[in-house]
Amino acid sequence: MRSAYRIALMPGDGIGPEVIREAVKIGEAVLESIGTRVFFEEFPNGAEHYLRTGETLSEETLEKLKGFDAIFFGAVGDPRIKPGILEKGILLKLRSSLDLYVNLRPVKLLNGVESPLKGFGPGDIDFVVIRENTEDFYVDMGGRVDASCSRAFEFTVNTGGARGSKYRVEVDSSSGEAFQIGIVSRKGAERIIKFSFEYAIKRGMRRITFVDKANVLTEAYGLWREIAEKIGEEYKNIVESEFMYVDAAALHMVLNPKRFKVIVAPNMFGDILTDLGAAIQGGLGFAPSGNINPDGTSMFEPVHGSAPDKAGKNIANPIASILTFSLMLEHLWSRYNDEHLLEASRIIEKAVENVLASGKFKTVDMGGNTKTNEMGDAILAEAKRLVHSGR
Ligand code: NAD
Ligand code: IPM
Ligand code: MN
Repeated sequence: MRSAYRIALMPGDGIGPEVIREAVKIGEAVLESIGTRVFFEEFPNGAEHYLRTGETLSEETLEKLKGFDAIFFGAVGDPRIKPGILEKGILLKLRSSLDLYVNLRPVKLLNGVESPLKGFGPGDIDFVVIRENTEDFYVDMGGRVDASCSRAFEFTVNTGGARGSKYRVEVDSSSGEAFQIGIVSRKGAERIIKFSFEYAIKRGMRRITFVDKANVLTEAYGLWREIAEKIGEEYKNIVESEFMYVDAAALHMVLNPKRFKVIVAPNMFGDILTDLGAAIQGGLGFAPSGNINPDGTSMFEPVHGSAPDKAGKNIANPIASILTFSLMLEHLWSRYNDEHLLEASRIIEKAVENVLASGKFKTVDMGGNTKTNEMGDAILAEAKRLVHSGR
């Protein structure tokens, strides 16, 4: 247990600062009211900082971030900047440098939220996607091959927490091409799969669905599946394993989401399936996520991006960010064994649930006209009520 917690804030771009503000307002008030001290320090990284200084995320900032108990992140991405610069330079750099190999993305349809899926209500959609977060097509190994090209590309990648696997790709081609290489490492797959079994056991979840495309990408996802099968053997009396190709998983998430408890996916499929997950739980405005290194500083962010179409209008739904704050406190509870943090996490989650269930507040994405700050105020008021009524 600690006497105070230090959280780094990186609001970023677009709606990032707008939704972070609401989450911090609520989180800070709840923590204070139950007697837990928390200090926030804000970092300016994002589009404006990049345009002003040319810097995405410096080594110095990275080192500083490692000294915090957690990082609370908004979103990055700006139409003025070439796609990939901020996303890779800030977000993916954080994930790889801090070795945040677990991307935890709960998918839950809450009472008072409408799913686009006909006939599904609260309780019908309630599962978690555990996305491997450092490997696969996210290792940044690729190149452009011009017509009449003969050359070698060399890459050094870190996999499974280990440094420096070297790859050399020799190209002799007369047509314009581009290539991108995905890596699944034995250690990288083992650690996320083990984490997933332990996560499921802790929460009494009895089945894990492992997603891949081992019928086509037989090497990388073949290895992924072999490892899941092998580790699954050790857990088979407690947790059942099933395997599903990603295309079928997408189908079942729409037709029969109730069947899922825990989905474990390689990085890119996890990315795609969690936007689909967000859609069926009512939209990106409700989807929280945690980028976790079980032994280090973790980073928490809503699944959504900077939503340039809604930025600066005070109309974004802050709930994804508020639930992300709650997820961060739950993680810090399990890391530092401080029951107050679990209590605060539950209060925030309950306040969100009660406000949504009241049906009185609906942001634009829910078909209403509640503003970002009004939704935050309503949840804050409900959280305070819960604290004072002893829940
Ligand atoms: P997006 O998630 O920003 O938006 C997709 C759609 O969902 C848009 O219509 C947007 O208005 C809506 N939306 C998202 N969050 C919402 C919220 N809280 N409330 C209401 N509506 C919401 O994805 P995009 O449009 O593909 O990407 C925009 C930028 O964000 C790009 O630069 C992209 O690279 C970046 N991005 C960043 C992150 C991140 O930082 N974690 C994640 C995804 C995308
Ligand atoms: C996400 C985002 C990121 C990803 C992008 C912005 C790099 O889509 O967090 O889901 O692909 O992981
Ligand atoms: Mn995504």
